[in-house]
Amino acid sequence: MDFDFDLYSRDTAQDPWPAIKAMQDAGPVLHNVRTGAYMVTTDKLARAVLTDTKRFTIEGTAVTIRFGREAFFGIDDKASHDKLRAIWMGAFTRNAVEALRPMITQLADEMIDPVQERLRAGEVVDLEAELCRSLPAYVIAHMMGVPMSYRDDVVRWSDALGAASVLPANADKQTHPAWLAAYKARDEIGEYLGEAIAHRRKNPGGTDLISQIVHSQHNLPDNVIISNSRQMLYAGNETTAKWLGHIVVALSERPDVRAEVIADPKLMPQALEEVMRWRPVVMASVRLAQPGGVEIEGVHIPEGKTIMPLVGCANRDPTRYEDPDTLNIHRKFQTNLGFGFGMHSCLGVTLARLEAQIVIERLLARIPDYDVAGEVIYNAFALRGPKVLPIALQKH
Ligand code: HEM
Repeated sequence: MDFDFDLYSRDTAQDPWPAIKAMQDAGPVLHNVRTGAYMVTTDKLARAVLTDTKRFTIEGTAVTIRFGREAFFGIDDKASHDKLRAIWMGAFTRNAVEALRPMITQLADEMIDPVQERLRAGEVVDLEAELCRSLPAYVIAHMMGVPMSYRDDVVRWSDALGAASVLPANADKQTHPAWLAAYKARDEIGEYLGEAIAHRRKNPGGTDLISQIVHSQHNLPDNVIISNSRQMLYAGNETTAKWLGHIVVALSERPDVRAEVIADPKLMPQALEEVMRWRPVVMASVRLAQPGGVEIEGVHIPEGKTIMPLVGCANRDPTRYEDPDTLNIHRKFQTNLGFGFGMHSCLGVTLARLEAQIVIERLLARIPDYDVAGEVIYNAFALRGPKVLPIALQKH
């Protein structure tokens, strides 16, 4: 069924929910007449697309262009993908990320200090700029062994890569300013990583993520190490930054939920997961239809066409979630698609959850009486979250 959805407008970024509802009502497989892409709107079909990596591939999408063809996020062949992903799997287990708790807690407290002071002085503070945006970047930089002096470059680089990821697929990749900025960031990261790899080859024994891939049993060449490390530097921060923003906004909109998690911190994990279901960061994934085209729910999708599992729709699928448009932290737990599904599901999910728990716990402990104090500005539809998030102390 044809549907006209302007994925790229400011209005859609700011408030996608009326369009999400309209698409759910229109049907499970929609053809976006504006872009030519096909969109699936149910949880079941989104899962089917994400797991069928033979018919719906990630290779050839913009992911491959931004990180390089050798990054496992953009590889569909399971054996090659799994071989590379396995190098870092140990670093993202529950025990391994739990060891980062003291470091993340200290970082959160250090970043909240000036925020608290300014709020007490009566200022309105942009919490995205002062805390949410940078903290996850600093954490992944720390894990990769990127020195302090480069940490703000990591934020800058990943902002540039992120801006290209939310452009229309037909944006001119040779001339569009956001693509040119993304290539520059990609090359700068590559240059930095080239030096970091050379240093580690000469100085073995390090435990950071770059050392782990440099000295893996596979003896990988530099271009493979660079593509994979570039993907990690990026994937590990912008998404988490946006999730933190969504949580801060949700807890301001719903003082009852905020009071509940303050009274009973054990509710925190389920509250965070429910925010992810209700307002996912990755609102849409992207895959390509394979040779011969593919059939889904009786709809033929021609070869090479883009297929978007719309996570924003799937996470509010009324056949899976009761009263899906309501944030309900006590709903029966079911996994949602916010961290993906199947072979390419998020490697960093445990780290992202730990970061969110620590940051929100520290924020509520120190500034329980904050409120959103101005317009929250969202960046885009596909990878969506607050880019400006003004908060102030509640007036008593
Ligand atoms: C709230 C935070 C995060 C969200 C919402 C998120 C979401 C996602 C999603 C939806 C995917 C799958 C995309 C697709 O199939 O098209 C994914 C993949 C991935 N994520 Fe995350 N992510 C988050 C944090 C992180 C962190 C902290 C890291 C690492 C430090 C990370 C590393 C990755 C990697 C490497 C992949 C590719 C996995 C593969 O292809 O095997 N992510 N993430």
